[in-house]
Amino acid sequence: MSYLISIVMGYFLGCFQTAYIVARKTKHIDIREHGSGNSGTTNAIRVLGWKLGMLTFVGDILKAVLAVIIARTLFDSQLAGLYAGAGVIIGHNWPFVLNFKGGKGIASTLGMLLAFDWRIGLVAWAVASLAIYLTKYVSLGSILLVTIMPIGVLLLYPGGTQELIITSILAIIAIYRHKANIGRLIRGEENKLGVKKQAT
Ligand code: G3P
Repeated sequence: MSYLISIVMGYFLGCFQTAYIVARKTKHIDIREHGSGNSGTTNAIRVLGWKLGMLTFVGDILKAVLAVIIARTLFDSQLAGLYAGAGVIIGHNWPFVLNFKGGKGIASTLGMLLAFDWRIGLVAWAVASLAIYLTKYVSLGSILLVTIMPIGVLLLYPGGTQELIITSILAIIAIYRHKANIGRLIRGEENKLGVKKQAT
């Protein structure tokens, strides 16, 4: 029951669509009608600029951190925290408040990881950042970040079956959400950081 409550609580927190709200409040636009159409950090940088993009990044990280800490404290369970983080990512990707059209959940995944186990979060963040710095492909960094997640869990939580299942499912979801990006990466047509367009 505690896991169910955690995931539902996380879902509602995840529905807080930072990119959408920031774009509405500052530029009076629906960010999902601009750039890649994604309600997330990368598209916020693309459409709104770096400052508002970073604001989005922090907001989406914090909602996941908050959910993990609340659930973990409430139920005195590390696993409940992970369920709450998973709920945030689901809410971020499919928010009922925006007709289930949100983002791809990468900043929230990072927030969840940092709060769940900062070692996995830090490695995932460092590898993703390096990949983005070198290639300018945020999607590539995102895919690496989510791939590291279950690998980190496998290495650091031997016997943690539920942890492994949750993080593997989240990684598969995230990679699936990037299917258009992956197609463009393969064709050499993916948008680079700082350059416009391509709806997904
Ligand atoms: O985290 C989302 C990023 O990996 C790709 O974003 O807007 O280029 O599809 P976008």
